[in-house]
Amino acid sequence: MSEPRIIPFGRPMIGAEEQAAVARVLAGPQLVHGPAAHDFETRFAARAGVAHAVSVSSCTAGLHLALHVHGIGPGDEVIVPAMTHVATAHAVEYCRARPVFVDVDPTSGNLDLEALEAAIGPNTRAIMVVHFLGLPPDMTRLRAIAKKHDLLVVEDAALALDASYDGVKAGGLGDVASFSFYPTKHMTTSEGGMVTTNDAEIARRVAAMKAFGYDKTLDERTRPGIYDVTALGYNYRMSEAHAAIGLAQLAKLDGFQAARAANFKALSDGLADCAELMVFAPAQGKGRSSHYCLNAMLPRDGGIARDDVVAQLKAKGIGTSVHYPSAVPLFAYYREKYGYRAGQFPVAEWLARATISLPVGPHLEPGDPARIANSLKAAVAVAEAR
Ligand SMILES: Cc1ncc(COP(=O)(O)O)c(C=O)c1O
Repeated sequence: MSEPRIIPFGRPMIGAEEQAAVARVLAGPQLVHGPAAHDFETRFAARAGVAHAVSVSSCTAGLHLALHVHGIGPGDEVIVPAMTHVATAHAVEYCRARPVFVDVDPTSGNLDLEALEAAIGPNTRAIMVVHFLGLPPDMTRLRAIAKKHDLLVVEDAALALDASYDGVKAGGLGDVASFSFYPTKHMTTSEGGMVTTNDAEIARRVAAMKAFGYDKTLDERTRPGIYDVTALGYNYRMSEAHAAIGLAQLAKLDGFQAARAANFKALSDGLADCAELMVFAPAQGKGRSSHYCLNAMLPRDGGIARDDVVAQLKAKGIGTSVHYPSAVPLFAYYREKYGYRAGQFPVAEWLARATISLPVGPHLEPGDPARIANSLKAAVAVAEAR
């Protein structure tokens, strides 16, 4: 009998269009500062339903700039969910501000809004809203809290492309947002990110700070090579080749997203009769998920070992991931710097131990969701019996 086909957790969907687009850039005279990045920004802004989009080298770079251009710095505190990618917290650290971690809601993995309000103090300046695995939280309530305390709302929309709240897409749900185009995301540029905002001045500042703090873009320079530098900016630009990949991916995005939604539904239907597993609903309140992946959570009592389940799935050719492997404050860097201890973020710590991220991307073939669901249920039964 032949080995079953391997289903990776994620696979970039790169085809002839992306290859041709990169080849065209490489054959031309302009590898940065060119029309592809500009075109990508215009089209991405239209897709996200926002006024401005600024391409950057990664989501992390975008999160850093989003805080930096608002003057977040030493002495400031920024609320960060305890369960997220470490990039969300690192962006705060880059500004020499202090991340204040808040536990998450056990039904969504999003910021616990009660705990959020309790964590706001006199030095709090901003809230990092992570749409956990692509599902926005109750943004009406979150924005009301932000308004009451005069806080900036930064969306970490790394996994939230096309997610929405009350019909408004992620990217336009706060003051400023950052998306990721890392290879396993909804679409890729290999590495890359996009900052979105409806505020022209914020977009202008992000654009300047991603390019050394120059006072003029290449196009604005009347004398070639002559510019002034008005701020300590960074080099967080996106190259033309990356942007060309992004443009080709955007043209395919509708198909990718439809496949994700269908795969998510089929996989979640297949797991519905498994009492041991909990799955976060992809639509909660007015929030609608981007279906980044399906995370199946094992029970809190720890009776079923995740390593065992994941190893069995691997042996059956099914790739998984974990979002995320630790509550961020318990990663060594944060634990040692701020003295956080195990037990302070019970929901985030449970998720870190118990969640298994399953593939739903457009790389799946018909029948794969059923195969994944059946393999997972069988693995859980074996692990439970051990
Ligand atoms: C929630 C979240 N934020 C930020 C990032 C970092 O994105 P990038 O690799 O584009 O910097 C990730 C990466 O997976 C993520 O999951």
